[in-house]
Amino acid sequence: MSEFEVLLSEEQVQARVRELGEAISRDLAGEQVLVIGILKGAFIFMADLVRAMSVPLTVDFMSLSSYGSSTESSGEVRIVKDLEQAVDGKHVLVVEDIIDTGLTLKYLSEILRRRNPRSVRICALLDKPSRRKTEMAADYVGFVIPDHFVVGYGLDFDQRYRNFRDVRILKPSGDGGQEE
Ligand code: IMP
Ligand code: MG
Repeated sequence: MSEFEVLLSEEQVQARVRELGEAISRDLAGEQVLVIGILKGAFIFMADLVRAMSVPLTVDFMSLSSYGSSTESSGEVRIVKDLEQAVDGKHVLVVEDIIDTGLTLKYLSEILRRRNPRSVRICALLDKPSRRKTEMAADYVGFVIPDHFVVGYGLDFDQRYRNFRDVRILKPSGDGGQEE
């Protein structure tokens, strides 16, 4: 059995997401925004975030896969599903679940900038700065967290636990295994 410890309650997450939506809407007041969700981890966060935003917006999604183990990215990233909307001339807001090493977002923002957007902003629900392997700072961060593996509110371990309404630390079970 895996064990969990709640790190951020549903109420904490919801309150912070509302603040982020308001801050982003203030900064982009009067503009139209293309909100890009990075699948799958960002899907729940993005659903709440766009409902907290008051600027006109459209949504699109990208799916990236990093070569490497399930818990650590290698820095080499492949686009599995690309955008359906053009980026050029638009204000872009990239929505990601968590910044860990920073390699995924660094790679992605380079790709997006080459497509000539008017601006690129990055919003991450969670940030683990102690694990950074490259210079990467988001414009908006929900919570800076210590170096724990977390699940819930879209984040998974082995594709599971995304449906938790809170964010929990996943603790390996006592015998060292991670299976049920
Ligand atoms: P980065 O390239 O190391 O910044 O990788 C970020 C990606 O790694 C995120 O989009 C997540 O998919 C995954 N990831 C990193 N840390 C965690 C975690 O604590 N829980 C779940 N997924 C994580
Ligand atoms: Mg992810």
